[in-house]
Amino acid sequence: MKKRLAVLAAMSAALCMSALTVNADEELTVIGFAQVGHESDWRTASTKSCQDVFSAENGYDLQFVDCDNDSQAQLDAVRGFIQQEVDYIIIDPIVSTGWDTVLTECEEAGIPVIVIDRTIDDSDKYAAWVGSNFKTEGLAAGEWLKAYAEAKGISEINALVIEGTNGSSAQIGRTEGFKEIADANGWTILDSQDGNFDQATGQEVMESYCKSYEGQFNVVVCQNDNEAFGAMDAMKAAGVSYGVDGDVILISFDACTAGLEYVMSGDINADFECNPLAAPFVEEVIQKLEAGEEPDKEVYMEEHWYVNEDILSSITVDGAEQPLTVVTQEIVDAQY
Ligand code: AHR
Repeated sequence: MKKRLAVLAAMSAALCMSALTVNADEELTVIGFAQVGHESDWRTASTKSCQDVFSAENGYDLQFVDCDNDSQAQLDAVRGFIQQEVDYIIIDPIVSTGWDTVLTECEEAGIPVIVIDRTIDDSDKYAAWVGSNFKTEGLAAGEWLKAYAEAKGISEINALVIEGTNGSSAQIGRTEGFKEIADANGWTILDSQDGNFDQATGQEVMESYCKSYEGQFNVVVCQNDNEAFGAMDAMKAAGVSYGVDGDVILISFDACTAGLEYVMSGDINADFECNPLAAPFVEEVIQKLEAGEEPDKEVYMEEHWYVNEDILSSITVDGAEQPLTVVTQEIVDAQY
């Protein structure tokens, strides 16, 4: 339910009214956002993107719930938004299944749902989805490794994978994509365990890998940057060298600022971007709905593949050639 902008009058004096871009007679559009949690740098950037776009200054009242990676809490948050009679609901689904009942409830309440980032696989009762193709990201990591190993004369690949939160579409897509290339090329995936997309779990998994597979692996694939940070700590402690000058090729996903810094320093060999800045595209969806138009059901984010070494200019993923970008300080400074 739209809130009269009059509530703004009661807001802190610190809020400079002249900075408001909305008219005093306008109403705030109330948006409920059920966010996954706060497990990674990527997540922080995603949350900030929504808070920046859906601000009071821009005419929104953002009701934000951090679901802390708890699927039941996320369903409860959506039901809470229905009770509040918000105007729109944004969901970044922790896992890809178990959604049809609550999305039916949103539909019956007449509240359009916009899904961001991860996908929902068991229901299409949402107005639009804005996010990334995770399988393409996994395929890209595999295609890059294939071309890189050839360029470096590496004939055998023995990989360890640290997966993201099991059941999330990001984990499912990246795992499938990389495995497809691994299988096609006869690589060995020694192990593939859940690292929960966070640094502490990534470190724990890598500590156990270093003990179980000592001297047996030459590639580590972390399904996000924070897991890679944890894996680096674990490998350092175990005396395993990694990165462009090391014995282990380290691959990551996300390419947030800190991840790109490690690509630039050569600690991470390649980082496959997952763009968290979906909110402006979500706002376009909302504007279309407000105008009575039908938005595109799927909107894909633009993403780049980042590397340290200037030895390959591009890779071909799913038939499409995409450039590889060598990370510079300028690129790091411009990243989220
Ligand atoms: O769903 C996107 C993934 O979730 C990002 O790769 C990861 O960092 C986040 O936590």
